[in-house]
Amino acid sequence: MKLIAPSLLAANFNKLGDEVEMINRSEADFVHCDVMDGVFVPNISFGIPIIQAVNQISTKPLDVHLMIVNPDKYIHDFYNAGAAVITVHYEACTHLHRVIQQIKNLGIKASVCLNPHTPVALLEDIISELDMVLLMSVNPGFGGQLFIENTYQKVTALKEMILRRNSKTLIEVDGGVNFEVGEKLYESGADILVAGSFVFNADSPIETIAALKRL
Ligand code: DX5
Ligand code: ZN
Repeated sequence: MKLIAPSLLAANFNKLGDEVEMINRSEADFVHCDVMDGVFVPNISFGIPIIQAVNQISTKPLDVHLMIVNPDKYIHDFYNAGAAVITVHYEACTHLHRVIQQIKNLGIKASVCLNPHTPVALLEDIISELDMVLLMSVNPGFGGQLFIENTYQKVTALKEMILRRNSKTLIEVDGGVNFEVGEKLYESGADILVAGSFVFNADSPIETIAALKRL
C-alpha cells in the first residue's frame, strides 16, 4: 500500500484552515496531527481544541500521534476531538495492551509508535492487536530532521513479523521523508509515509503529495 499522511506540524498555523483545505483537495490519505507535551518530548505543539477545529473542516481521517506521557488519560478526549487513528508511544505506556484495548473499544484504529532506539522485536506479543505501527525515523519532537538510515532494516524486520503472524497491521514511518527516502521505505515494506517539511516547504504541496504516492 502507498498511503500518505502530511504532518500539520510543518503547516503555516496563521492559515491552518487553508492548509487543511489543501490537504482535502490533495491525494493524501490522512492528516497527521503531532501532539507534544513538553515532557515526553522536548517540545510543545498543539492539542485537543486544534484537533477538534481541524476535524470540523477535514475530509481526510485524522491520524493522531500522541507524544505525551500517560496517553491513557486522554484517549477519550482525542476520540471526541475526531481522531480516526490514535498512536501511543511504546516508551510512554507501562500497560500498553490495556491502552490499545481502550482505543479499539472506541471503534477507532490503534497504533503503537517506536522511537529510533526501540527494537521492533518488542512488539512480537502485541502485533496482532495493532492496526498500525508507527516507526520514528527521527527522534520525536521536531520536524525537518535528518532521516535515520537504520529505519530501513526496522521496516523489513517488522514486515517479516507481520507476515509471519498473518496480521494485517500497516507500517507507517515518520520523520525526514523525501522522494529518495520514501522510495526505499516503500521498497522495504512501508505502507504509510508521514511527510511534514517536505510537503509544506514544497512549491506545490499538492503535487508533492501526488508524487509521493506514485514513488
Ligand atoms: C516529529 C513528528 C513528525 C514530524 C515530521 O516528532 O512526529 O510527524 O512532523 O516532520 P518531517 O517530515 O519534517 O521530518
Ligand atoms: Zn508524527
